[in-house]
Amino acid sequence: MSDDQGMNQEIAADTGRQVLCRAADIAEAAGKGFVLGEGRQKREVFVVRKEGRIYGYVNSCPHAGTPLDWMPDRFFTNDGRFLICATHGALFEVEDGMCLRGPCRGLALEAVPVIEEGEEILLLPVGEPAGPAGC
Ligand code: FES
Repeated sequence: MSDDQGMNQEIAADTGRQVLCRAADIAEAAGKGFVLGEGRQKREVFVVRKEGRIYGYVNSCPHAGTPLDWMPDRFFTNDGRFLICATHGALFEVEDGMCLRGPCRGLALEAVPVIEEGEEILLLPVGEPAGPAGC
């Protein structure tokens, strides 16, 4: 088991916050995917960093529901400006997940509340705001 997998299991009983990874694991214009839960509770999410801020989304394109990454942890266009869906090339704003171009134009990725706190990236429990799409 890698360190990241071990960190995935950490959910603070008192706050419900879950450690996803170390902050240093997500470089500028890069991202990282995570599989949360098991069975029917399983969901895939990803966290990306742009201009120093982090943003979290469910890893499912609003067009056909496929994961965005064409290779593990590859979510950005080559220029690092947008998120891109590997299946049909839809482009999304990093900041709010809105589709700017492609078959799901006008739809948005589903945001997940994440925050960078100290050395860690945390997934917040539902209902705990992290800003528009990240922190
Ligand atoms: S599944 Fe993402 S653009 Fe079609």
